[in-house]
Amino acid sequence: MPSRARRFSTSRLLFGGDYNPEQWPPEVWVRDVELMRRAGVNAATIGVFSWAELEPQEGEYEFDWMDRVFETLHAGGIGVVLATPTASPPPWFTRAHPDAMPVGPDGVRLSHGSRDTYAVSAPAYRSAARAIAQRLAERYGNHPALLAWHVHNEYGTLDFGEHAAAAFRRWLQRRHGTLEELNRAWYTAFWSQRYSSWEDVLPPRATQYIPNPTHALDFRRFSSDEMLDALREQRDVIRAAGSTAPVTTNFMLPTWNHLEQWSWSAELDVVSVDHYLDTVGPDGEAHAAYGADLTRSFGGGEPWLLMEQSSTSSTVPGRRAHKSPERVLRNSLSYVARGSQGALFFQWRAPAAGAEAWHGGIVPHAGEDSRSFRGFERLGAALASLAEVAEPPARGPLVEADVAIVWHAEGWWATETAQLPSDRLDYSAAVRGAHRALWQTGFAVDFVAPGADLSRYRLVLVPSLFAVDEAAVRGFEEHVRSGGHLAVWPFTGYADEHLHVVPGGYPGRLRDLLGVRVEELHPLADGERVLLSLDGGEPLSGRVWSELVSPEGAEVVATYSPAGAAGDLAGEAAATRHRVGAGTAHYVSTFLEEESLRRWTTSLCEQAGARPVLDGAVPERVEVVRRRSANGEHLFVLNHSELPVRVTGPGTDLLTSVSAERGLRVEASGAAVLRTAGREGWSVQALPA
Ligand code: GAL
Repeated sequence: MPSRARRFSTSRLLFGGDYNPEQWPPEVWVRDVELMRRAGVNAATIGVFSWAELEPQEGEYEFDWMDRVFETLHAGGIGVVLATPTASPPPWFTRAHPDAMPVGPDGVRLSHGSRDTYAVSAPAYRSAARAIAQRLAERYGNHPALLAWHVHNEYGTLDFGEHAAAAFRRWLQRRHGTLEELNRAWYTAFWSQRYSSWEDVLPPRATQYIPNPTHALDFRRFSSDEMLDALREQRDVIRAAGSTAPVTTNFMLPTWNHLEQWSWSAELDVVSVDHYLDTVGPDGEAHAAYGADLTRSFGGGEPWLLMEQSSTSSTVPGRRAHKSPERVLRNSLSYVARGSQGALFFQWRAPAAGAEAWHGGIVPHAGEDSRSFRGFERLGAALASLAEVAEPPARGPLVEADVAIVWHAEGWWATETAQLPSDRLDYSAAVRGAHRALWQTGFAVDFVAPGADLSRYRLVLVPSLFAVDEAAVRGFEEHVRSGGHLAVWPFTGYADEHLHVVPGGYPGRLRDLLGVRVEELHPLADGERVLLSLDGGEPLSGRVWSELVSPEGAEVVATYSPAGAAGDLAGEAAATRHRVGAGTAHYVSTFLEEESLRRWTTSLCEQAGARPVLDGAVPERVEVVRRRSANGEHLFVLNHSELPVRVTGPGTDLLTSVSAERGLRVEASGAAVLRTAGREGWSVQALPA
């Protein structure tokens, strides 16, 4: 678990978001602060893309405007999250250092004109980034308005140019030691790929045919480590300048996945995330919960910060889908319930022009006389009423979960390598699907790294992890032997950390623990489904994958039904259970569809003795989350359904100050946050419309 110097504790929940005053004349800044106060905003993130305004020519700095912004915000009681602007070097930088522009795999060097255009390994970029971070730290590092440092923005530009090549070789030498070992790990006795000199090793640039998968995976690992070095340099410069404000950088979910978040989190004072929902409707609510649980887990269960979410619309395929104020409130509470110290947005004021003119803002184009601004005023009031939630408990996690899901960015990257047995394998979909199933059935969930201590959990899910190292295997074995349940999806453990298939049958390193041996893979075509017969129950259905499983000690709990697309697998084992020591290792050999996955995980939770957030049944599409604080426990009830519900139990709603002892009505699309002593004595019932 990451250990940080201190925990990110604030006396209130933060509310606000990205603020780009440089896009507006100073008169607007004064009006902005008035409106921020009106809405209850208490935090503004500035400087994210301000490099060209702060350093208009190399070594010439202009801080007067930012001084004024700091003073204006501070006078209004608004705290500052100060970003270092290093995600977007100014145009003069390209002219002075053309070699510090990133190169794509196709060899094309990019130019300025957008953002995120930098070669992270280029010495000129790194020293310019340190220099601007140092100037900012010297000037503002002890400003009373400063709440936190926001280093860079969404690290993630991959570079395949000459500086990356040199840094990649150094990284490979550290990882593999000798060229001989690199040749072994990359399996280069194949297609004449053997390297005889380090100088010949390149980033995985465009090549004639299928690239080497281990080369590609090592490059993803390297790129994450290289960006982490860049982050550390800025953090250390900030510290050396005497600033003690907590340092973060904003991770990005759900698809921008260029960082190995476990090692990054260990370097931060507080973990933060930008989370943009990519679906509307119920799946969007599940997605918010997923992002929140992941981010809390990255930070070891400690308080974290939602740095950005969209304000008035979500980017979904083909359009910007409107977000209602009620949804904005429920989504914000979903993050806070799961440990965020507030709800920050992209962004304060919708831009007048530019590439993000239509991304919305707390102050929309229509201005403050608008339904959405009034919604944000209500959100500000709601967050202010939850101040007592912000103080973390003296001991123990913010959210107690009996169930954990294994997450590893490397699992995602490994599943993106070329020429796997099915191009429909989707790491992110598998993990999100597992989380969604638990979310739907009201279980609190943590995420864990492979190899992490699992002793706190009754049930650990591994929704596919193609490459598994020895430490992860030992962790899983220890968990099961000492009485835990482990459930494994297919395409897990088939390879080692170098993507070498473990010989003798799949799932390779997990064979003994799962008590099965898989001899043949039968990936399914688009639209094909397999049905799994269970004793005395409706069959389960699966997609994407099936395989020939022979039990080797495991008990068969479901077989492939002839009714589906099982072909000659009909009658063979499809799901198994293996008692090992005091625990049980479960295996399912297909990717279960949503409803089936929900049934399977519910049964696993029962077998493992995992308890949901509330013991009684909770109506469909009503989310309940418990967050612990120094002031007791808080039960968040988020009603995503179209019906009102009645919440009854020993506690008082902080949003309305109404007691729930005799039943509290929570309207359709509404929410309540109840101070309580624990999970006992609560019930939630649907009411007629
Ligand atoms: C984020 C980014 C912001 C802004 C926003 C637009 O990922 O950090 O700067 O671009 O997306 O939705």
